Amino acid sequence: MSVQSSTRRLGVRDIRKGKGPFACLTAYTTPIARLLDPHMDMLLVGDSLGMVLYGLDSTLAVSLEMMIAHGSAVMRGSKHACVMVDMPFGSYQESPQQAFRNAARILAETGCAAVKLEGGVEMAETIRFLVQRGVPVCGHVGLMPQAVNVAGFRAQGRDAAEAARVTADAHAVADAGAFAVVIEGTFEALAREITEKLPIPTIGIGASPACDGQILVTDDVLGLFDTFTPRFVKRYAELGPMVSSAVEAYAADVRARRFPGLEHCFGVKA
Ligand code: KIV
Repeated sequence: MSVQSSTRRLGVRDIRKGKGPFACLTAYTTPIARLLDPHMDMLLVGDSLGMVLYGLDSTLAVSLEMMIAHGSAVMRGSKHACVMVDMPFGSYQESPQQAFRNAARILAETGCAAVKLEGGVEMAETIRFLVQRGVPVCGHVGLMPQAVNVAGFRAQGRDAAEAARVTADAHAVADAGAFAVVIEGTFEALAREITEKLPIPTIGIGASPACDGQILVTDDVLGLFDTFTPRFVKRYAELGPMVSSAVEAYAADVRARRFPGLEHCFGVKA
C-alpha cells in the first residue's frame, strides 16, 4: 500500500520496507512539482536535469549550484511528497568530508528531506559518515549515469560477476545506513532477488516490478523529452506534439495579426 494518501509532508521514515509500492518521479521546477506532488510518494530532483533541461550529453557537468536552485524550486512547489536531491558528479566522491559539506548545503539551502548519491561498496564509508551526521541518504546502484566514462551507459548484471557486484553494492549501501536504494538498469531476476533480501526499499528504474517502488523521468512519461525514450517507459501522455501544434497555431495567429485574448483587456478587436 502506498503512503500517498497522507496529508502531512512525507519524510524518509515513511519510505520503509513493506509500505510501498512507492510512486516516484523526477521534478526540476516549481510548476511541475505542483502538478506531481499530490500524487507522488517521492519527488527526485535528479541530475538528469542536465540532459533533460539543459541539453547536456551526460550528467557530468551538472553543478551543486544547479541542484540547489532546482531543489529549492521543487520544494516551493510541493507540500506532500518526500523530496530528495541528487548530489552531482564531483560533489561527494573525493572524501566523506567533502560529501558532508555539500550534502549539508543541499539540505540547508533547499529544505529537502534527503540526498541521493551513486555508488555501492566504494561509497559505503561516505554514506555511513553522512547518515551518522544527520544526512538521510538514498543509494543508487546498477547502471550509474555518472560513471558513464568508465562503465558506459548499459544494463548491469549481465554475467555472474556483474550480478554479484550489483548485489554487493546494494547490500553495502543498506548496511551503511541508506534509507532506500535506487536500482537502475539491471535484469529483472537480479533486482527481484536484491529486493527480497534487502531490509530497505528498492526503487527501480528499468529494473523489476518486484521493486518496492518505481522512479521514472517525468519528461519521458509525459512525452516531452524527444531525444530518446527508454524501452521500459510507458508514455502516459504525448505533450511534445501537443506543445508543437499549440505554438504553431499561436505563430499563425500572430502572423495573421489575430490576437485572441487582447479583446478582454483593451477592447481591441481580436
Ligand atoms: O537523475 C535522475 O533523474 C535519476 C533517476 C533517473 C533515478 O537518478
